[in-house]
Amino acid sequence: MQTILAPMEGVIDAEMRALLTSLGGFDRCVTEFVRVTEQRLPAKVFLRYAPELEQGGVTPSGVPVYLQLLGGNPRAMAFNAQRVAKLEPAGIDLNFGCPSKTVNRSDGGSILLREPQRVFDIVKAVRDAVDPSIPVTAKIRLGFSNADHLLEIAHNIAVAGANELCIHARTREDRYKPPAYWHLVKPVQRTHCLPITINGEIWSVEDALQARAVSGCTGVMLGRGVLRFPQLAAQLRAYDLGQGFEEFDWFGLQSRITDYLNSTQKRHKYFVGGRAKQWLGFLLRRYPQAGELFHRIKRLRFADEVLAEFDAFAAESKTTGYATVKTGPEPHAMELVKP
Ligand SMILES: Cc1cc2nc3c(=O)[nH]c(=O)nc-3n(C[C@H](O)[C@H](O)[C@H](O)COP(=O)(O)O)c2cc1C
Repeated sequence: MQTILAPMEGVIDAEMRALLTSLGGFDRCVTEFVRVTEQRLPAKVFLRYAPELEQGGVTPSGVPVYLQLLGGNPRAMAFNAQRVAKLEPAGIDLNFGCPSKTVNRSDGGSILLREPQRVFDIVKAVRDAVDPSIPVTAKIRLGFSNADHLLEIAHNIAVAGANELCIHARTREDRYKPPAYWHLVKPVQRTHCLPITINGEIWSVEDALQARAVSGCTGVMLGRGVLRFPQLAAQLRAYDLGQGFEEFDWFGLQSRITDYLNSTQKRHKYFVGGRAKQWLGFLLRRYPQAGELFHRIKRLRFADEVLAEFDAFAAESKTTGYATVKTGPEPHAMELVKP
């Protein structure tokens, strides 16, 4: 019952991985993609995306981090993977899912799904280039405009020697539009022996159970659902183990978000403000307090003013009792969707 934290460019950086994995329930993370062209990238580029490589390739709570490469040239992917391998990563993931026009125009991401043979060539080149002890995984969508070649793509990835496959159950044309077509993954799951993880549109434990049941996969990858509800993986793990689960109140959650923001202070002067607004934008769908705080910081730009507003809001929440408001579904609601 593996749970993976999804890679999200511009959102899930090393500091975020540190925070989210500290909450429990995750077995693995994947970095934001590193774009590979013809160049041999220096080690410092990989270390920038995955500073965890200097700490044994794991987050501070010990969760392995796979470094993700994106590119369309098998040879270039192979020699860059070799460089990554020297840094002893927990694993290398290959991105065949990015829908961005810019990325697709430069021969990377989901556009490669139109060429199943090239997907094979890339996976094989990387697999052959690095020591077998380093897992090589692939992340795909159902296809580019439709899912017609899904079985062929998955087959090619399996025979090229990938250790695992994650399928975001939408095509590139679907972008991020709901729903995710979890059921289309079931035939792949039946046909291939490599472990497959299901991804897309999992916002709650109920969704995770449905996605597992409908796709036949035991592993799930969680993306935006974790931004809205940071304890989602921990709640899923507690459910799987039949253990109790306690959700933070807003105050508990806000203090962790503040720790995250503080840990990014060495970045660009607008970084903290940008990330705070971005994350509150996800959280407000579940926590009304996040909406209120978002409103209070939306015009602020500098880290110190944003953090001061966070502190003021926390102090007020404490005295008004607002922080103790519990949100979200009652745990017993999950019993209804047991697979
Ligand atoms: C802002 C953003 C950035 C993303 N960056 C990456 C990335 O760097 N690599 C990747 O493989 N997928 C990336 N994805 C896709 C996610 O990993 C995931 O497949 C997608 O969000 C669907 O899962 P979800 O519905 O649980 O969010 C990104 C998605 C979003 C929304």
